[in-house]
Amino acid sequence: MIVLGIETSCDETGVAVVEDGQIRANLLTSQTDLHARFGGVVPELASRQHLVSLNFLLAQALDEAGLRFADLDGIAVTIGPGLVGALLVGVAAAKSLASVLDIPLIGVNHLEGHVEAAFLERPELQPPVIALIVSGGHTMITQLHDHGVFEILGSTIDDAAGEAFDKIARFIGLGFPGGPAIDALAVHGNADAYRFPRALMNDGTYDFSFSGLKTAVIRWIRERQDAGEEIDAGDLAASFQEAVVDVQVAKTLRAAEERRVSTVVVAGGVAANSRLRERMHSEGGAKGLTIVQPSPALCTDNGAMIAAAGIRRLARGERTSFDVSANPNLALA
Ligand code: KG4
Ligand code: ZN
Repeated sequence: MIVLGIETSCDETGVAVVEDGQIRANLLTSQTDLHARFGGVVPELASRQHLVSLNFLLAQALDEAGLRFADLDGIAVTIGPGLVGALLVGVAAAKSLASVLDIPLIGVNHLEGHVEAAFLERPELQPPVIALIVSGGHTMITQLHDHGVFEILGSTIDDAAGEAFDKIARFIGLGFPGGPAIDALAVHGNADAYRFPRALMNDGTYDFSFSGLKTAVIRWIRERQDAGEEIDAGDLAASFQEAVVDVQVAKTLRAAEERRVSTVVVAGGVAANSRLRERMHSEGGAKGLTIVQPSPALCTDNGAMIAAAGIRRLARGERTSFDVSANPNLALA
């Protein structure tokens, strides 16, 4: 089965062709430069840029896959959650293609796509899995009972993990997006140099809270600056990152143990974080868990994850009505 995947939920335009779990093409145009000077994604600019990039990427993806439109069995597209204007560009394109080609349209939840990325690289993997989904807009621990069947065990009650990375990075002048910049800076820092709060660490839930951490870090920096003290940027980045990673690792591994699920998937843009990957791998491995972390390019937004989720749904006989619209708050469960 050959499915084209379209992803336009935020600031990356992704188009991919996946054939039965095999990536034939996976193209992306990043809008990072466009939004960087504003310190974050400007929704209107994102929508316009998706329009500019999409036609080119569609042609290029088919070309790279060595296929023609007529070879496609379905069109999968992110229908939410995300920025409504950005989503609409992808949804309109997908509907037009599916309609003209007379093939099924499959609407995909962006977060389901992130989790399905893990199965692309590990075809032997089977649900149930515990999935930590950490991105710029979401942070949650879920149990995937079967493909497409999620139970949300806990989620952030305020900021998403990626948002915390981006906000702290912006505050210390690292630019946008902040996650990769903090990750790179932290490599040379001491994670024990400064102690920042780990909210909800031992509250017995699977929820997260990062807004207090963000406020604490910003207050701490201001106090040091007011006192004329030097701050080591590497130590600061590593110590902040450690506070975020600590809670994620502890809660996710506890979920796997309590739910008696032996496989853990770490998905979403923040899953590209090197410290999170390292600690999940070592601490999860020590508990006898199988830790699955997609390669960084499949963690951040991409079209292949949407095509992969689409193939699963199509194989189950699902079709999405052409009446579907983009839903910026689409729920996962
Ligand atoms: O999944 P994603 O590409 O887009 C959304 O669905 O939001 O995630 C983007 C987020 C951004 O906040 C970005 O700073 C963060 O993922 N991110 C990282 C890293 N790479 C991307 N955060 C920490 N460390 C990284 N290496
Ligand atoms: Zn994402």
